[in-house]
Amino acid sequence: MQTRIISWDKTDGYDPEELREAVEILRSGGLVAFPTETVYGLGCDGTDEKAAKKVYEAKGRPGDNPLILHIAEREELDPLVKEIPPAAEKLIETFWPGPMTLVFRKSDAVPKTVTGGLGTVAVRMPAHAGARELIRAAGIPVAAPSANASGKPSPTECADVVEDLDGRIDMIIDGGEVGIGYESTILDMTGLRPVILRPGFITREMIEEVIGTPGDEAIPDSPSLAEDQAPKAPGMKYRHYAPKAELTVVRGDESEAVVKIDELARQFPPDKVGILTCDERMDRYEYGVVLSIGSEKDNTLGHNLYHSLREFDHRGVTRIYAETFFGSEQEDALMNRLMKAAGGQVVDLANYTRVVFVCKENVTISPMAEWIMKSIVMDKSIEICSRGLVVLFSEPINQKTIDLLNSHGVPCEEQSSRLLREEDIDENTLVITMSFTEKVKVVEAFGLTEHIYTLKEFVGLEDDVLDPYGGDEAAYEALYLELKDLLYKMKKRLGWQ
Ligand code: TXA
Ligand code: MG
Repeated sequence: MQTRIISWDKTDGYDPEELREAVEILRSGGLVAFPTETVYGLGCDGTDEKAAKKVYEAKGRPGDNPLILHIAEREELDPLVKEIPPAAEKLIETFWPGPMTLVFRKSDAVPKTVTGGLGTVAVRMPAHAGARELIRAAGIPVAAPSANASGKPSPTECADVVEDLDGRIDMIIDGGEVGIGYESTILDMTGLRPVILRPGFITREMIEEVIGTPGDEAIPDSPSLAEDQAPKAPGMKYRHYAPKAELTVVRGDESEAVVKIDELARQFPPDKVGILTCDERMDRYEYGVVLSIGSEKDNTLGHNLYHSLREFDHRGVTRIYAETFFGSEQEDALMNRLMKAAGGQVVDLANYTRVVFVCKENVTISPMAEWIMKSIVMDKSIEICSRGLVVLFSEPINQKTIDLLNSHGVPCEEQSSRLLREEDIDENTLVITMSFTEKVKVVEAFGLTEHIYTLKEFVGLEDDVLDPYGGDEAAYEALYLELKDLLYKMKKRLGWQ
C-alpha cells in the first residue's frame, strides 16, 4: 500500500481537495493518521468494526486494548454513551476541546471491536484545529489510538508516523510538531468517583478544582489490576512508550543525580550512552548523547520526551540514564511515561528507611503529618515518626488533631510530644520540617548538611505549611488537606509503596 501524505497548516489549513480525499478514506473504512494537540492519532471510522480491526493490525496492537473515539462537537457525544454523569458535564464544559479523555458506559452504537470488548467507551474532543476540522468533515466519530507501532513511543511529528506506519496505512496528515507531546489525561467516569486511568497535561489538581473534593473524596490513583482482566487503564498490561535502548531512571536530589548520571554514563562509549535531562540542565553534562524532554518554563516540560526517546534510537544509543522530573505541574504524567519507558528500572540515590517530621512543639502539625504518612505508606519497613524542637515537658497530641484525623478515617494512637535528639537521626533518616525557620534550627543544632528539607521544599514548592494555631476548625481542616496533598507528593518522590 502506498501511503499518501498531505498537510495541514496553522495558517493555511487544508487544501479542500486533499481534505475531501482524507474524509473519503475514513468513510470508506480506510486509515488516516492525523495530528492532535497531544500526539498523532491513527484514525478510522469508529462505527466500523472492519476499519477498527485494520487499526489494530497496522499498529500490531493487541485486540483487547481499546481505542478512543474522537468527536468534533459536544452533541456528538450523546449517541455514543448511555449516560453522562453531572461531574462529567462539568469537566466537558471546562476541558473540551482539549487533552482530556472521558470513559462512559457505551451505547449500542459503538461496536465492541472499538472498545476491546468492554462495555465502556473512551471519548475525547481534541483541541487541534486540523483534527477537529477533519472529524467534523467526516461526520463520524473517529476512533484513534496513537499513530505509533505498538510498544514504541507515541509520534509527535509526521516523520515518526512515517517511520512506524509507512506502507501500512492510507494517508498521513502532516501538521508539523504537536503542542503537548504526550497523550491525554484519561478519566473513568463510570464509577462512584472519577478515577484517573492515565495522568496527562490536565492534572489531578485541575480536575479537583472543577469537580471538588470534599474531605477524603480525592480522586484515587488507578486501581491495580489482575493479569487476566481486560486492561482498565492503559499500559497496565502492555509495555508502552519504550525506546530500543535500556533506560534507567536515576532518582534523587537534582545535583546529586547529575553527578551520578555522569558517573554511570562514563562506563560506556560516549556515542552509545544517552542522558535525558531538561533544557535548563543540558549544559551540566559533558559526556554522552545529551537530550532534553523540554523546558521547565511554560508547562512545556515533556514536549520533547518521546521525540528524544526516538532520537536516542536513531543515534544507536544502547543505554539511557534519565533524571526525574518532579516539581512541574505535569509531574504525574511525565514520571508515569518515563517509568513506563524504563520498565520500572530505577537507581535510588538516597535509601531512606526512616522519616522524622519536625515542628516546634510536636503536638499538632508534625504528629498530623506522621499519622497521615503512616496511613498512606504501605511499606511497613519504613519507620515514620515525629519530634519537636521545643518540648520542655511532654504533652499529649492536641485533641482537635486527633478528632480531625479520626473524622477522616486516619488511625491515630495516643502519644506524647518528644524532643528531637541526635539519636533520632542516622544516615538513612530523612528529616522534614514544616517551616524554613525550623529547618535552620535543626541544621544549626545538629550540624546537618543533607537529608534535611522543609516539606514543601522536598516536593519542589516554596513557603511553610499552614499553621492553624489559634484558628478554628476550618484552619485545622485546611492544614489536613494541605498535608495530605504534600505527603502524597513526597511519597511519590521517594518511590515508596
Ligand atoms: O492523546 C491521546 O489520547 C491520543 C490522541 C491520538 O488522541 N490517543 C491515545 O490513544 O493515546 P491510545 O490508544 O494510544 O491510548 C488510549 C488508551 C488505551 O491505552 C486504552 O487502554 C484507553 O485509552 N482506553 C480506551 N478505551 C477505554 C475504556 N473504555 N476504558 C478504559 N480505558 C480505555
Ligand atoms: Mg498509544
